Amino acid sequence: MDTWILGIESSCDDTAAAVLCNQELKSNVIASQAVHAQYGGVVPELASRAHQQNIVPVVDAALKQAGIRPEQLHAVAFTRGPGLLGSLLVGTSFAKAFAYSLDLPLIEVDHLQGHILSHFIHREGAEEPRFPFLCLLVSGGHTQIVRMNSHFDREIVGTTIDDAAGEAFDKAAKILGFPYPGGPQIDRLARMGNPSVFHFSEAHIPAYDYSFSGLKTSFLYLVRDRLRENPHFIEENAADLCASFQFAVCSTLMKKLVKAAKDLRIREVAIAGGVSANSGLQQALREAADKYHWTIHIPTLSFSTDNAAMIAIAGYYKYAMGTFSGIHAVPYTRSEK
Ligand code: KG4
Ligand code: ZN
Repeated sequence: MDTWILGIESSCDDTAAAVLCNQELKSNVIASQAVHAQYGGVVPELASRAHQQNIVPVVDAALKQAGIRPEQLHAVAFTRGPGLLGSLLVGTSFAKAFAYSLDLPLIEVDHLQGHILSHFIHREGAEEPRFPFLCLLVSGGHTQIVRMNSHFDREIVGTTIDDAAGEAFDKAAKILGFPYPGGPQIDRLARMGNPSVFHFSEAHIPAYDYSFSGLKTSFLYLVRDRLRENPHFIEENAADLCASFQFAVCSTLMKKLVKAAKDLRIREVAIAGGVSANSGLQQALREAADKYHWTIHIPTLSFSTDNAAMIAIAGYYKYAMGTFSGIHAVPYTRSEK
């Protein structure tokens, strides 16, 4: 029998809804909130208001595009956390009301788990990762190396002790005067620049953990000092600055990932989360795959940044296991793992 799941995601600044039939994507609708660009970061109060405005039309569009009536769904999956409280409350409350009015089971999904499980949405020509696999989860809020033993057995091997990789990209972009989120713009400019022009201090953190705050400070000081000598330093060097910064982030990410894969003897490796869209990181992963004989999994752009299809696929596996949530489920803002 087919299983139809509606996924709802509202943890940060994207209001998203998607419909899956088993592992097949039937619709994937996202309303991104442009309002934050001018503030250099997500403003929580504005994000919750925008979710409140968007949630009904976004869910309606997802159902219509999938060509399904609400009564035909088998369950409603929603992001319970981690994320911004006001944002999560909108998705959680909507999901509860929608599910209970239709007498459908409710399924809570962890946002990070969703990012990783997005690799199990059926894609023409792409293979699912085989367990156990390592996943480098790199987003605006998290940077982790995770060992996946099964769909829901997630072991954190390494994590950042300060900033997330996406946060580092966004902060560097802000220093250069780019609007939020600046990661994609750094990526675009980096393609035209030389990565070995500027050098930044590298953190020496034990085991498989990361730190990006030193890199950010080193970038800030370099730009600040050079601007004193030349007020046009940023415009004249933007591409090289972006390429050098991106190279520093990606090589740090890859070093620990390679170490973890070697030590744990795992050759099945995936990347997930917004920063997995980065062309430098994807290239570095491909090179490592050739060198170390890895089988790699890179998400398409629509599955790397926040989306609800990843919440629906996690819901699909939980539905199969009969793991449901009660009406009392409340959001959590910080990672439970
Ligand atoms: O996973 P995501 O959409 O949201 C969170 O769960 O945080 O990740 C958003 C992050 C932002 O920091 C954004 O700048 C970064 O992903 N990002 C990128 C690229 N595309 C998105 N960073 C570098 N290169 C990109 N191409
Ligand atoms: Zn995310």
